Amino acid sequence: MMISDLQTDIEALQGNTALWNETNFEKRIEALDDLEFIIDRIEALLQLDSPPVELFPLKQCAQTIKSQLEAINVALFARLRAAIRSGRCQGVALLDLIKTYAGSGLISSQPTNSVVGYSNLDVFTNSFFFLEILPTATLKREPEMVFYQKTPTQIILELVAKANLTNQDVFYDLGSGLGHVCVLVNLLTGTTAKGIEIEPAYCSYATICASDLNLSNVVFICEDARIANYSDGTVFFLYTPFVGQILQEVLNKLQVISWDRPIRLFSYGPCTAYIAQQSWLTSTGQVNDYLYELGEFRSRPTN
Ligand SMILES: C[S@@+](CC[C@H](N)C(=O)[O-])C[C@H]1O[C@@H](n2cnc3c(N)ncnc32)[C@H](O)[C@@H]1O
Repeated sequence: MMISDLQTDIEALQGNTALWNETNFEKRIEALDDLEFIIDRIEALLQLDSPPVELFPLKQCAQTIKSQLEAINVALFARLRAAIRSGRCQGVALLDLIKTYAGSGLISSQPTNSVVGYSNLDVFTNSFFFLEILPTATLKREPEMVFYQKTPTQIILELVAKANLTNQDVFYDLGSGLGHVCVLVNLLTGTTAKGIEIEPAYCSYATICASDLNLSNVVFICEDARIANYSDGTVFFLYTPFVGQILQEVLNKLQVISWDRPIRLFSYGPCTAYIAQQSWLTSTGQVNDYLYELGEFRSRPTN
């Protein structure tokens, strides 16, 4: 890339006033990616022996635009968190806002067999969590326990749309990680949401973020899902938190709950195929071959 190309790109970003419009979040994310690439490129050129002097003001200019655009997002997220905290931005209002700012991923994404890519929806909803530094796991996982990976926001929105949760429900995310699923489910539906997570560092991150948002009906319990008590649950979600014997033990616990009253299960990732084989469950969604598609099950009536 020539210096003149870099200059043209920077000027184009500088002159694009739409980026300064707060609702153009997705365009701003793209622009910030471009700026990062441009700055990296300039820095590489600055490593050359006797680099061209015009690179210094170019780098300065790119960094200034980047800081200005980042500041718009920081202010937007702070205001959004304050609105959530005060209860002014929840339910349908929040869903509309998420779609307005970051909804393009909802249209383009298709079920897939490879791990779903994250979209701007994730960048947007991650901002509800004010702790930016992600915790490091402290426990050694057993081989059947799966490492942390966040459910894509698109899938959480699909879950919310399909589950028709009411305030009679108690929603559980088994293996709740950093708490994104419970927080979003509660914000969008008002339903009590509880997470069971074995890793204390994840659980305390989730608890701090939920309490920052004033979410009194979101609870994270630091326990092994094989031991924890979730007998008050009506709707359960599992993003393949464990496999093999552990998954079967947890499914057995859920089956026992279903002897008392019907329960529903949603799943994501490789565990769906295993869950689909449980004779006490019936699939309410379309079962097809996509690994990374939301699975939907309900317990069969017991006599
Ligand atoms: C694939 S991640 C899903 C995280 C979360 N549900 C989300 O979508 O953002 C699986 C999580 O399950 C947790 N986990 C693994 N084994 C567990 C167990 N036996 N009991 C509770 N949590 C467990 C892991 O620590 C990890 O955070």
